Amino acid sequence: MEIVNSIEDMTELGRLWKSDPNTTVACVPTMGALHKGHGRLISQAQELGNLVVVTNFVNPLQFDREDDLKSYPRTPEEDKAVCRKMNVQYYFEPPAEEMFPHGFLTTVNVAHLGTRIEGESRPGHFRGVCSIVLKLFNIIQPDIALFGYKDAQQLVVIQHMVRDLNLPVQVVGVPTEREKSGLALSSRNVLLTDEQKKQALCLSRALKRVHFLVKKQNITHSGELLQAMRSAISSAGDEVEFDYARIVSRVSLEDLSYVERGNTLLLVAARVGGVRLIDSSRL
Ligand code: PAF
Repeated sequence: MEIVNSIEDMTELGRLWKSDPNTTVACVPTMGALHKGHGRLISQAQELGNLVVVTNFVNPLQFDREDDLKSYPRTPEEDKAVCRKMNVQYYFEPPAEEMFPHGFLTTVNVAHLGTRIEGESRPGHFRGVCSIVLKLFNIIQPDIALFGYKDAQQLVVIQHMVRDLNLPVQVVGVPTEREKSGLALSSRNVLLTDEQKKQALCLSRALKRVHFLVKKQNITHSGELLQAMRSAISSAGDEVEFDYARIVSRVSLEDLSYVERGNTLLLVAARVGGVRLIDSSRL
């Protein structure tokens, strides 16, 4: 595996690959602390492309809280070992001072898609995500880029940015990897104690409950379903601080009054022991 530490080198490689019609570059952008969910993204990237680039950059622009950025898990050596083991060909780990040089001013906003829901709880988050993802796309020029379904709003926002700005990248969503218990894998899970992990199960439980109510009891009114999600989360334990539960369109992220099968996203967020967790599901 080749480790690339400078934007100049990565740009040069990107140019080279672009000029070769036999090379299909699949990029997996990450912030490191890799887990099996990332493993799934990498495997899918290997199926879709013949050259895989994993990026690792903890992007300060997408954190609205200094303490959250500081405590974000960082395991650079383990991450490289995971990628080597998976036969990833290129690993891009750019220095922050190159990504955001003195005088950096330009950012990307996907209007209300990025300011609602998660964007309300984390102002500026998607502006940070889109800006870094666009930079990575410009530097690497991948044919395909893969993102997890768990960060469902992120996927919608990035797909929209790619469409609006005519970026020549195919964005692919990959299903969420879960522990046997149902807990969605997240880099932040390492910050949880065993007890907090147990309480964090309320998120996946809330999603499962809605699937049950829709599929087995034909309840489609969002008001009733949201109430069920809220109470599953709020009653989970003293470590859980409910943030939101939403039932929205997969395309527009607008709230839905009724579940529309095939066009519905369930989104939940909570702090568990102070650690912010999100989960989502498609219906
Ligand atoms: O999903 C993530 O890990 C990050 O938001 C991403 C897409 C790598 C941008 O920093």
